[in-house]
Amino acid sequence: MLGTIMAANVFFVIIPNHWKLVRAKEAGEEPDPAWNAQGKQRSVHNNYFTLPVVFAMLSNHFPFTYGHDHAWLILVVLMALGALTRHYFNLRHSGRNAWWILAVAAGGLLGLAIAIRPQSSSSSVSGPVPSFATVQAIIANRCAPCHALHPTQPGYSSPPSGLALETPEEIRAAAALIKTVAVDSEAMPLGNATRMTQAERDTLARWLASR
Ligand code: HEC
Repeated sequence: MLGTIMAANVFFVIIPNHWKLVRAKEAGEEPDPAWNAQGKQRSVHNNYFTLPVVFAMLSNHFPFTYGHDHAWLILVVLMALGALTRHYFNLRHSGRNAWWILAVAAGGLLGLAIAIRPQSSSSSVSGPVPSFATVQAIIANRCAPCHALHPTQPGYSSPPSGLALETPEEIRAAAALIKTVAVDSEAMPLGNATRMTQAERDTLARWLASR
């Protein structure tokens, strides 16, 4: 969406206004300064959009941001920080080194990282240790629709990240990874597409703690 706005700024405002200026010059008329100001304004908008757009394009690889319960808020904060960082470089290019802006952006990023850090104590590990069959059933229902040699989840033709979780051996070998993405954090299942419950995460946590 932001990319579309940027492209629209270029095609519908910046380029047409540029042509108006050129035509006015050709006709020997005095160009309207508003054309230039408008073009410049949209250019500045685009300039502030760059870092947020780059983040949005790469965000696929950061499920801990959009897999979070407050994903929209995290996105807004990251975009504001991106624009702030851009503001620092804009001032720097005009000769001002307002280092505090960069410090505020870095502080904000650190604060956000702390706020969304994985909580290792979020799953309860007290209670009876589940059987491996129970664990395998949870993985089969919640993970294997994507993480299989032949995924059943629409849109998947091979196991994401090359990770299949179908056989007991595959599940045991990936135990540490499973803990990181499904117990310590809720990065997986991706977007919770398979609707994993907290009780199931707790069951996995008890199995993992008993190994
Ligand atoms: C809807 C599909 C889907 C489901 C369901 C799913 N995953 Fe994933 N998983 C993905 C995708 C896509 C990636 C690759 C993400 C990326 O490129 O950053 C991935 C990556 C991973 C990775 C690798 C992370 C890394 O750092 O390389 C692990 C481990 C993982 N998933 C575990 C699980 C577990 C455990 C479950 C079940 C609790 C699960 N996944 C459910 C789609 C899914």
